[in-house]
Amino acid sequence: MENFQYYTPTRVVFGKGTEDRTGELVRQQGCRKALIHYGGGSVVRNGVLDRIYRSMDAAGVDYISLGGVVPNPRLSLVYEGIELCRKENVDFILAVGGGSVIDSAKAIGYGMTNEGDVWDLFEGKRQAQACLPLGAVLTISAAGSEMSDSCVITREEGWLKRCYISDFCRPKFAVMDPELTMTLPAYQTASGCVDIMMHTMERYFNRSDNMEMTDGISETLIRTVMKNAKILMKEPDNYDARAEVMWAGSLSHNGLTECGTDGGDWACHQMEHELGGMFDVAHGAGLAAIWGSWARYVLDSRPERFAEFAVKVMGVEPAADDRETALRGIESMEDFYRSIGMPADLHELGLEVTEEQLRELADKCSYFGSRTVGIVRSLEKGDMYQIYKNALGY
Ligand code: NZQ
Ligand code: ZN
Repeated sequence: MENFQYYTPTRVVFGKGTEDRTGELVRQQGCRKALIHYGGGSVVRNGVLDRIYRSMDAAGVDYISLGGVVPNPRLSLVYEGIELCRKENVDFILAVGGGSVIDSAKAIGYGMTNEGDVWDLFEGKRQAQACLPLGAVLTISAAGSEMSDSCVITREEGWLKRCYISDFCRPKFAVMDPELTMTLPAYQTASGCVDIMMHTMERYFNRSDNMEMTDGISETLIRTVMKNAKILMKEPDNYDARAEVMWAGSLSHNGLTECGTDGGDWACHQMEHELGGMFDVAHGAGLAAIWGSWARYVLDSRPERFAEFAVKVMGVEPAADDRETALRGIESMEDFYRSIGMPADLHELGLEVTEEQLRELADKCSYFGSRTVGIVRSLEKGDMYQIYKNALGY
């Protein structure tokens, strides 16, 4: 077991109607003026934004708003947000939406509190010294950004999607009402479920001697999301299923499922970010489309762990050897993806990737040959190319 720190400063306010407490939560932060940040309109159409405005008015908190965040949130809107917040003397950001909105809010928060171009952080040229305080009203269970230390932004120039990690951006509070996720299209619900599972699977596939406790939490978390994802495909208004998935989403990415480990593999996330940057796919769907290819490529580096996953998470019967058991587990996960309408390869994701694009993906993911990704097996540019290629599906 590795030494570890577990730091989760976010106050979680969970349950039916909790969004009506948002104004009071913002006021408790002692802010002068808040920016309410949101996406492409779902919160306008389903009335959530109006309820947040009313709650802010009731609490007597001054605010302005900025919508228009798109999935795979763009750097240009981050710049716009920073300019607006400076002009309006904003000192708190309230994100009303999913991972994209929360990440856009985090990036604006970084831009407000650090010198120079905020994109430098995402390129690893500087480290943040602070971030404006922020809170979240979550409307989709998926990215886990409501409790995480991560922020993922896409720069339109060159279509680069990059992640910056620091504790400064962890939200002060997260309001989580599972009912708010009932208006999600089935595809987004399913994509979110895959992302939640993957945040724990990335950590599960590691090189550590694992803690029984952490493994147990992880295995239960993944199984719980699978079970409830299936329920939600048939009963999108099932409150308990929405609640199970929502809480799993936060626990899966707040560090709990990596306690005592080396932090996990994360190659699939790195490889998916390039798919998101270049092809604008939904993040969870992109992860589903490459996971099987990645798993088969690296499995011989830790067959016993893949076999453990197959038995304890996927419930497959052990075969004659670990490798065979592992392969059954991978197939079983791909079957699960398809059962909730998720792709198990790039073709099913709707992409016809050319040879040139395969090379571009590998170039970008390897930072043009200057880094490796993954820990189960360290992947170089050539490996990345092969995993993308094996994922083509035709
Ligand atoms: O923009 P609107 O109109 O709101 O529509 C959104 C969007 O189209 C819609 N939606 C959200 N809540 C809804 C709803 N539609 C109907 N009813 C609701 N209640 O769902 C679509 C997807 O939203 P988005 O915020 O993009 O989803 P998600 O939470 O999956 O976030 C994805 C982004 O987060 C990043 C991903 O890379 C991607 O850019 N990630 C962030 C992480 C982090 N900060 O910790 C970790 C993750 O690994 C991930 O990389
Ligand atoms: Zn993710």
